[in-house]
Amino acid sequence: MPDHTIEEQEEEIAALTKVVAAFENYERDAYSANNRRRKDAHRIPLADRELLAKLGFQDKLVEVDKCIAVNAQFARDIVAHTGIFGDAGDEIPDPDEEDEEGEDDDVHDHELGDEDDEEDSNDDEHHGHDHGHSHQHSHGHGHSHSHSHSAPSHSHSHSHAHPHSHASPQPQQSKPTEHDMEKVRSTIKQFVRDWSDEGKPERDQCYKPMLDALLERYKDVPDSERGDIRVLVPGAGLARLAFDVAKLGFASQGNEFSHYMLFASHFILNRTRKIHQHTIYPFIHSFSNLRRREDLLKAVTIPDVLPSDILGRDFSLVAGDFEEVYGDESAESEPQHGPWDAILTCFFLDTAKNIVNYLRIIHRILKPGGIWINLGEGPLLWHFENNTSNDISIELDMSEMMKLLDMVGFEITSQRTIPTTYATTLEGMLSYVYSAEFWTAKKKTA
Ligand SMILES: C[S@@+](CC[C@H](N)C(=O)[O-])C[C@H]1O[C@@H](n2cnc3c(N)ncnc32)[C@H](O)[C@@H]1O
Repeated sequence: MPDHTIEEQEEEIAALTKVVAAFENYERDAYSANNRRRKDAHRIPLADRELLAKLGFQDKLVEVDKCIAVNAQFARDIVAHTGIFGDAGDEIPDPDEEDEEGEDDDVHDHELGDEDDEEDSNDDEHHGHDHGHSHQHSHGHGHSHSHSHSAPSHSHSHSHAHPHSHASPQPQQSKPTEHDMEKVRSTIKQFVRDWSDEGKPERDQCYKPMLDALLERYKDVPDSERGDIRVLVPGAGLARLAFDVAKLGFASQGNEFSHYMLFASHFILNRTRKIHQHTIYPFIHSFSNLRRREDLLKAVTIPDVLPSDILGRDFSLVAGDFEEVYGDESAESEPQHGPWDAILTCFFLDTAKNIVNYLRIIHRILKPGGIWINLGEGPLLWHFENNTSNDISIELDMSEMMKLLDMVGFEITSQRTIPTTYATTLEGMLSYVYSAEFWTAKKKTA
């Protein structure tokens, strides 16, 4: 694992600072959007405004303000414990120094790697279409590492490999961009998919077939021995799929490089004492495509399950770029070192710049006789297509993908198309349904 240069540390601190600032800026940004509506209602003729008043439009804005206040507290809570990201995170000014609930209760072991600005390119909003497509891409450096941790269960210990971190200057805080703020909003909405009762139908469409395939593959392994089966979930998002894998008793590792996702998953996994503890209003950010006011103002409580249910299980999240963390064949002492019995990719493959490399890595780290389970990508929504940062983007259609799988050395063992939404607006008048391709594959024998 290479030591990081001061420049790399500074970049990492800057990236973290940017994400923290975006979460903290949520309240101001959301009020500003709502105030725009209020002002516009004052710009129309009095007679028109009076009709709006009869509809209760202005009252609705007051209700939205109340929801914003709740979401804002939630957003601040998410980034109140920046220390999860190690030295770099510790250096970010943390107004809430007190750890009321105790770091020692962490459910998952947070293997730390360096995430960089690449998260800007392939985030979840890319699959959530309610605000339209976002194809903004920006990229930082390309380094990554993860840290070894001791036992999972209740412990949350980090060993850090940042030399000279205390010499790093405080990063300049720039104002969060609209793109940053959209990430905060989409992170809030992503909680519905992964951690709410309301998200269950979507999880049943996406995660259940994958978990069923995993159980089917290892049906001959007694429950008591499932902990020996190592399952990797790249592009884990808010970590529900990786959590469910651990809950079934498998050794589970998620990998994720977005600090938005990592802060948020850490919060839900480690700062939750009871089911339905947190209330959010995920649908207040767009007034479009709504049938009723209740749909706009709908409260969602999370989580639907208690994360501490899996205390003691082998469950970790490795932060960092998939290609760098798992493509590094020399990282033998690291917890991400393969081979893996099962790899579960859900709405992940099209985050690749070079899909050939993604497939080669999956092939290399998958155990002979192991299983690769994929869902998503059907229409392939290539995240780097049309990027403005001069990044490589190789976009294949599905039939090319299937031929490539064969050439890289996979044998498809089952395949079907599953219609599914992705972080959709509940009861919305617009809903994108993906014809997602589901397959299981194994390594071809020579
Ligand atoms: C479309 S989301 C899917 C999230 C989750 N699997 C789900 O189904 O809800 C893709 C996720 O992959 C992450 N991601 C994209 N490129 C990545 C990379 N190179 N390494 C690690 N994670 C990556 C994104 O940050 C995002 O959380």
